[in-house]
Amino acid sequence: LNYRVPQTRRDIFQTLIKGLQRLEYRGYDSAGVAVDGSGKDHAASISLYKKTGKVKALDEEIYKNNSIDFEAELDTHFGIAHTRWATHGEPSPLNSHPHRSDKNNEFVVIHNGIITNYKELKKYLVSKGYDFESDTDTEVIPKLIKYLYDNRENDYVSFSTLVERVIQQLEGAFALVFKSIHFPGEAVATRRGSPLLIGVRSQYELSTEQIPVQYNCSKSSSRHPYFSSTYTSPQTCSAPAIIEHTNKVIYLEDDDIAVVVEGKLYVHRIKRTAGEDPVRVIQTLQMELQQIMKGNFKAFMQKEIFEQPESVVNTMRGRICFDSNTVILGGLSDHLKEIKRCRRLIVIGCGTSYHAGVATRQILEELTELPVMVELASDFLDRITPVFRDDVCFFISQSGETADTLMALRYCKQRGALTVGVTNTVGSSICRETDCGVHINAGPEVGVASTKAYTSQFVSLIMFGLMMSEDRLSMQQRRLEIINGLKKLPELIKEVLALDDQIKSIADELHHQRSLLVMGRGYNYATCLEGALKIKEITYMHSEGILAGELKHGPLALIDKHMPVIMVIMRDACYKKCHNALEQVTARQGRPIILCCQDDPEISKMAYKTIELPHTVDCLQGIISVIPLQLISFHLAVLRGYDVDFPRNLAKSVTVE
Ligand code: G6P
Repeated sequence: LNYRVPQTRRDIFQTLIKGLQRLEYRGYDSAGVAVDGSGKDHAASISLYKKTGKVKALDEEIYKNNSIDFEAELDTHFGIAHTRWATHGEPSPLNSHPHRSDKNNEFVVIHNGIITNYKELKKYLVSKGYDFESDTDTEVIPKLIKYLYDNRENDYVSFSTLVERVIQQLEGAFALVFKSIHFPGEAVATRRGSPLLIGVRSQYELSTEQIPVQYNCSKSSSRHPYFSSTYTSPQTCSAPAIIEHTNKVIYLEDDDIAVVVEGKLYVHRIKRTAGEDPVRVIQTLQMELQQIMKGNFKAFMQKEIFEQPESVVNTMRGRICFDSNTVILGGLSDHLKEIKRCRRLIVIGCGTSYHAGVATRQILEELTELPVMVELASDFLDRITPVFRDDVCFFISQSGETADTLMALRYCKQRGALTVGVTNTVGSSICRETDCGVHINAGPEVGVASTKAYTSQFVSLIMFGLMMSEDRLSMQQRRLEIINGLKKLPELIKEVLALDDQIKSIADELHHQRSLLVMGRGYNYATCLEGALKIKEITYMHSEGILAGELKHGPLALIDKHMPVIMVIMRDACYKKCHNALEQVTARQGRPIILCCQDDPEISKMAYKTIELPHTVDCLQGIISVIPLQLISFHLAVLRGYDVDFPRNLAKSVTVE
C-alpha cells in the first residue's frame, strides 16, 4: 500500500511484479495482479490482469495494454498480486488469482492454501444465483464475501467484519488478502494454517516495536494508530518479495485479521483464547537482498551447491567446541533431560528433508541408543501412527512451512509428544509451533531442488547425536572421530567441488539417456535416494535410488549394457557387500560409474568411470558423496535445456496437503 506519497501507476505495477519475480524461484505456473482502475476516482473500480506462465509474460501483457495510464499519480493505493501453483484446475488465466466476486470486480481475493469444503459452499452460492468462472476452490471466497455484503443487515458493515464472517465458513488452510471497490484504499488479510507475514515500512521511526492485538475491533469506535506506514505488503509467502522494501515484519498467527485502513495497520482476533500472546511483535529480518541473488552463477542451485563449504560452517558455528569436544545446541538445552528420557525418536519430513533423516538414522541410533523411526510426513499421517507422550518427534523442513510436515507436527503435539523443529527459516510455522528446535543456518535457499539445506540438516542431526552422547564414556572415541571429521568437512567439500569439470564431462555423456539408476547401501543409501530425487526433479529423467541389498530382489532385471548406473561404494562397513553388488552388475554387462574413495584400484578396475572422493568418517561420508550427484543433476538439466531453478510442476515450499 502506498499512502500519501504519490506514486505513478507504473511504480505500483513494478513493485507488485518485482515482488512476484522474487518468489518465482518457488516454481509456479501462472500469475496475476489486481490494482485500482483508471480514471479520476480510481479506487471505485478494480482492474485485473492475469497470465499463464512466467511473471515476465504477465509484465509484458500489462505494458502492452494501451488503456493503462502508467504516468498517472495516485496518492492512495492498494494492489495485490499472486503466483499460482495449480491444485484445483489447470493453469489458465481464469484459474489464476486474484479471483473476483463478479464481473464488476467488487471483491477480489488472493489465496495460498486449500479450501476443503469448497464444494458445499459452491453448491450453496450457485443455488443463490452466483456464477462461477473457474475450476478453483478459491473462487468461493470472493463469491461468499459478496453474498454476505449483498445480504448485510445494516447499511454499514466493515470490511474486516465481512472477512471474519467469511473465514468462519471456511475449512482447510488459507492465507488470504482481500481488496474491494466498496472499501477503497483498505485491505484485509488473514490466515489459518498457511503462512502470512506483513512487511512494515514506516514513513517515520516506528514508535513501537509491537502491535497490540484487539478484540472485536470492528465493534470498537476508537482505533488508535500504531504507526503510519508508507508501504505495507502482506505476502502469502516468505520474505524475498518484500526484503528490498523493508526488513521489518510481523508474522500473523492463525485467525488473526490484519486491516490496513488509511495507512494504519490494525491486528485483531475474533475471540480471545486463554494464555495467548496479546501482541504481535515487529521483527527485523536478517536476510540481505544480495544473499538471495545469483551472483556469477548460472543458477541459484549451482550457487547453493558451491556455498556448501561455508554453509556447513555456519551450521556448526558457535555450537561445536573443538577444544573440549563438546556440542551445544542452544535451542534444545532446556529440553535435553526430557529428550534423554524418551523412549524413541521419530524423524519426520518430506522430500530432501526426509532424506536427511534417512542419512543420519544409523548414527543417531548408535549415539543415542534409542530406536529411531524416519517417516515421510504424508505416510505417517495416513497410517495414523501411534505416538506417545514419551516420544520425541523431529520435524525436518528447509522452509518450515511444508503442509504435510506441519500437519504431522500438530498430530504429534496433540498426542503429547515433545516436538523439535529443524528448519532453515526463522519464524516459520514449524519453528513457532514446536516446543524447541535447531536452526540449520544454511542461509536462504532459492533453488527449488534443495542442496545446501540437505547438508546442513545432515550436520545438525549429527550434532544432536553428539550432544546426546556427551556423558557416555564408551562413546568418547567415536565422538572424537566424528567431531574431527566435522572440523575437516569444509576442506573436503572444496575438494569435491574441484571435480566439477570431470563431473560435467560425465553429464555430457549421459544427457541423452532416459533413465539413470543410483545404487548404494548403509550410510550411502540416503545419498542414492537424494541423488535420484535431484535428477528427476530438474532433468526430468527417470531416476531411482536403489538399496544395493535389494538389487537381487528386483532391480537387477533392469541391468544390461545400455542401462546407465551410478554406484556409491565407499570404504565403510558395507564395502564388501557393495563390492558384491558391483560384481552382480558387471556380470550383466552393466557399465557403472562409481563414486568411490581415492586410491581404490580394485573398484576402479571394474568401473566404466570413477569419481574419486576424499574419505571421511563413515557417518559423514554421505555429505561428501551427495555433492557429485547434485552437480551431475545440475549439468544434466543445463545440457538438456531445462530451467534449473524452475522445474516444471514443482514448488519450493509446498504449503498444501
Ligand atoms: C518440496 C521441494 C523439495 C523439498 C520438500 C520439503 O517438495 O520441492 O525440494 O525437499 O518440499 O520441503 P521443506 O521445506 O519441508 O524441507
